[in-house]
Amino acid sequence: MPNQDELTFLVNANDVKPDCGTRVDLPDHPPLAVFRLGDEIFVTDDTCTHGAASLSEGDICDGQVECPFHSGAFDIRTGEATALPCIKPLRVYPITIENGRVYARLDADGSDAGQAACAQIPSAAR
Ligand code: FES
Repeated sequence: MPNQDELTFLVNANDVKPDCGTRVDLPDHPPLAVFRLGDEIFVTDDTCTHGAASLSEGDICDGQVECPFHSGAFDIRTGEATALPCIKPLRVYPITIENGRVYARLDADGSDAGQAACAQIPSAAR
């Protein structure tokens, strides 16, 4: 069972559909985007680092999300900016999935981005 002091429940894994982002609004945190790539789930900031666009509304192709405003792009797995005008990377959060529920560690400082930044969806929750 996740430590509720460190992990924040975001969404049920079943509600994260492939090839489209799911926006999660929390009371005391900027909006998040939850993405599913194959059987893995990733959580990033939802707001583009170039402007005020919601990346959960962007197109997903080859593991990248394209910003709906100016067509910048980010690698969903790493947060790396992959297309101009985006330069600043997107924050990626460490997550875990317990009983089909997706939790993120929102207090992570970003230095561990890419480490346990995703979690495999258990077969029972697919
Ligand atoms: S706001 Fe996202 S590329 Fe400009």
